[in-house]
Amino acid sequence: MTKRVIGILTGGGDAPGLNNAIKQVVNSAAGEFIIEGITEGWKGAIMMTKGEDPRVYTLPLITNQVRRIDRTGGTILMSSRANPFNYGGEDLSDKVAGFLSERYHAVIALGGEDTLGAAGKLYAKGLDIIGIPKTIDKDLCQTRFTLGFDTATNIIKDHVISLKTPAGSHGEVYFIEAMGRNAGHLTYWGGIGANAHFITIPEAEIDAERLIEAIERRRGSLVKRRGYSLDGLRYTIVVVSEGTRFSGVGQITKKTIDPHGNQELGDGLVALYLQRKYKELTGCTAKTEVIGRRQRGGSPSAYDNLLGILLGQKGVDLIRHGDFGRMATFNGETVGDVPLESVIDKIRILDADKVYDPKRYRPIIAANNRLYHEIEVSK
Ligand code: F6P
Repeated sequence: MTKRVIGILTGGGDAPGLNNAIKQVVNSAAGEFIIEGITEGWKGAIMMTKGEDPRVYTLPLITNQVRRIDRTGGTILMSSRANPFNYGGEDLSDKVAGFLSERYHAVIALGGEDTLGAAGKLYAKGLDIIGIPKTIDKDLCQTRFTLGFDTATNIIKDHVISLKTPAGSHGEVYFIEAMGRNAGHLTYWGGIGANAHFITIPEAEIDAERLIEAIERRRGSLVKRRGYSLDGLRYTIVVVSEGTRFSGVGQITKKTIDPHGNQELGDGLVALYLQRKYKELTGCTAKTEVIGRRQRGGSPSAYDNLLGILLGQKGVDLIRHGDFGRMATFNGETVGDVPLESVIDKIRILDADKVYDPKRYRPIIAANNRLYHEIEVSK
């Protein structure tokens, strides 16, 4: 009997842990299914649908080939933010669903809300597909963890800690910008992990002037407590989210929108805005740092490796049992699955009222606090 072929693709921003999931899919399916990688996310599928040579956009995957891929981050399949529902303004979703259904027994899509949102809508058009959750932002609904988040949080933590030494030696103020388009999980966990003095999250509106007053209060507080002046010497680290919303200003965005309709952010826009405000209000110069794509780079953490193994295994099991239109999940204890439909056009964010003190610009840490206070809202 000819073996059935599963297509697998990775979409959106790359993240450590993807290769671990791919490796587990290949190993778990060995002898039962043929696994074919589709390169560059939905772009590979779109190009093949448009008649391009599949040899250019596919990669046969076998056990021997994937043996070493778990050591590196990124994705051996490459990725893109292409969208079958809007490819340069054209809706190719019917054609893509038809092409993939013809070529594959089923498809595994690894991605965040955009990639899996498209997967859910393609399932509704008849494609047998399942999803594996990946995003360093951790803003996908119905799952507590997503591939890449743990590694990214630790990279943020290390980055902040390494800057504490020069900042401390020179008594400087640093605005360090981390990712997180709609959700503050990265600055929240990375900031707490590094004991940053202040953080901002997209879920809570920030008054820039009051934040700067808080920084200045902290810098002057030693003067009052010790009776001698260390004013200007007390270093301060502020970890800011690229998605920060400022009162009266909103988010500070680039001019571009990605193929999934997301306003593009980042590249230090928030840190630079605060640096300018700081100069304006205090006359002093603050430093800025953008962690940027480094927070999605490097080798996966042990946790992301384990998560990749669990979710990759679950992905193949779902296909084995014919449970299509589902997304694998992990709640910290058990692996499960939910309908892809339930993660479309929604995001999982911090419950700001419970975790963030908007007057002190810090996480709320209370003895009776839970580790997770998260809510799901429409996008
Ligand atoms: O994938 C989501 C994300 O991590 C966002 O937080 C961020 O806005 C985006 O990636 C940045 O992507 P890129 O590096 O591709 O511009």
